[in-house]
Amino acid sequence: MTIKHLTPLLAAFILSCSSPNQPAETSPNLPGNEPHSWKEAVIYQIYPRSFKDSDGDGVGDLRGIINQLDYIKSLGITMVWINPFYASPNADNGYDISDYRAIQPEFGNMKDFDDLLKGLHERDIKFVMDLVVNHSSDEHEWFQQSRSSRDNPYRDYYHWWPAEKGKPNYRWSFFDPKGEAWKYDSLTDAYYLHYFAQKQPDLNWENPKVRQEVYDIMKFWANKGVDGFRLDAFQFISKDTTFPPLPEGYEKNVIKYYGMGPNIHPYIKEMHDEVLSKYNVFAVSEGAGSSFEDAHALVDKDRDELQMAYHFEAVDMVRDLSGYTLDTFKEIHSRWDSAFTEKGWLSVFLANHDKARMVDRFGNPSPQFRAPSIKLLNTFILSMRGTPYCYYGDEIGMTNISFDSIEQYQDIAAINGYKKVVTEGGDIEQYMAELKFLSRDNGRTPMQWDASENAGFTSGTPWLPVNSNYREINVANQSSASNSCLNHFKEMVKLRLNTPSLIYGAYQIIQPNHETIYAYTRSYEGEEYLVVLNFSKKQSSIQLEGFDLNTVSINNYEVLNISDKNLTLEPYQAIIFKTR
Ligand code: GLC
Repeated sequence: MTIKHLTPLLAAFILSCSSPNQPAETSPNLPGNEPHSWKEAVIYQIYPRSFKDSDGDGVGDLRGIINQLDYIKSLGITMVWINPFYASPNADNGYDISDYRAIQPEFGNMKDFDDLLKGLHERDIKFVMDLVVNHSSDEHEWFQQSRSSRDNPYRDYYHWWPAEKGKPNYRWSFFDPKGEAWKYDSLTDAYYLHYFAQKQPDLNWENPKVRQEVYDIMKFWANKGVDGFRLDAFQFISKDTTFPPLPEGYEKNVIKYYGMGPNIHPYIKEMHDEVLSKYNVFAVSEGAGSSFEDAHALVDKDRDELQMAYHFEAVDMVRDLSGYTLDTFKEIHSRWDSAFTEKGWLSVFLANHDKARMVDRFGNPSPQFRAPSIKLLNTFILSMRGTPYCYYGDEIGMTNISFDSIEQYQDIAAINGYKKVVTEGGDIEQYMAELKFLSRDNGRTPMQWDASENAGFTSGTPWLPVNSNYREINVANQSSASNSCLNHFKEMVKLRLNTPSLIYGAYQIIQPNHETIYAYTRSYEGEEYLVVLNFSKKQSSIQLEGFDLNTVSINNYEVLNISDKNLTLEPYQAIIFKTR
């Protein structure tokens, strides 16, 4: 299947199209770099449209999140990242911003934001703001000015190509129904660039005024007290503005051609000097280029740029209906870890708002195995080296909604992707099957709070349907059941936060060729933990010679089957032993 047929849906979120494959560094026993609070964080990601609606309009809002702050605190997490809630026409659910200093009315107002931040801080939870500055909305005042005439002072805030120069060289777009990133605008007889949707024109970072605007926006929020920024689509900000031709089929390796443009480092350094160094904030860029060098150049301490790399290779290993293999899973995670043994720091995650549910992609969503497999995945995320990002709903094992018809989808990537396949005469059945499994809407359905109507998410009509399994999978049920996914998640968060070895400890894979079990140690200052995860729906055994298996730190089953150092795990059983 070519990337053309993948269409925006899958292609867009295969953002790591090239795989770093440099040889791993060879000092697995060093503890990584020096301690820092954001390395010790556990981040909980909230998709605000879908978390909790307080006013019955069917859309989650900031008041809804405020009403659930005690729940959020009860998870034990220490930082919250909320997807954009700025004023937005909502072409891409808030990733198209029309005012960077205003709150989207359906989410509330600035007082709600201030209350939310205060409520988080009172509970010792830090807050990470999503900053979307590769592009704005076409309804932002800057763009309205920019498109109004060629000599408008805002003209150079965006990338324009005058039509008299001929058609610009082809640029591929993630969300365009034709896959074209240049959109002709007759008002000034010119094309503007949009890597994402037509309503998301790319900002021109080569213009120093644009950069100053961004730093001012960051200062506005930093002065309010936010603790960090997640920089959306940030690897794309710097572009070769001569827009030379790119090789045929370059979109298969889009990060290589769009990512880490010529001036990205000077711009990040400038941002560091102007904003990051002046406040107690951290920053993480979405995407980390297409090699380990790219990722290191963003985050190594001596670079004075960003704090942690968020790469996609691991989440993107599930690209089509064939899923993934445990071999690849182990190999990718081990390779990234070993490249960051001594310098730099990684994010660890298996899900976010751009992905289908984690249990469907990496676990087993069947009623029999859903609970143990989600517990296993949470054990994994929270026991790897790197800051864990946990996506709302994964603590209770929410699953894909799996829509059948295109009318059910809300996501622009799904809808425009459909149009593109139809226009190109592609295989629509295959597209729909992939969408059902991999669409972003799968990961955006309303939070399942209880067994009441609409899962307690809203008293109105939810903007996206609630998954019909909510009567069984919900927070209320799981709060009272001691062996629930939710309680396992809380226990695992606690273990992580209280165990320096699980935060800073060196990672070492054990028996890498085991077909069904992923086992590794984390060791630090004379302590050692052994994590053993059975990624299969069958019982599996592993011989663990040389390990002291007497102390279990966490186990997602009640049984523990060891005989003569031979450990037999139940389907999706996940155990952590303290072995030293
Ligand atoms: C990032 C966001 C995604 C959004 C895109 C355009 O990839 O995570 O949700 O659609 O940027 O802003």
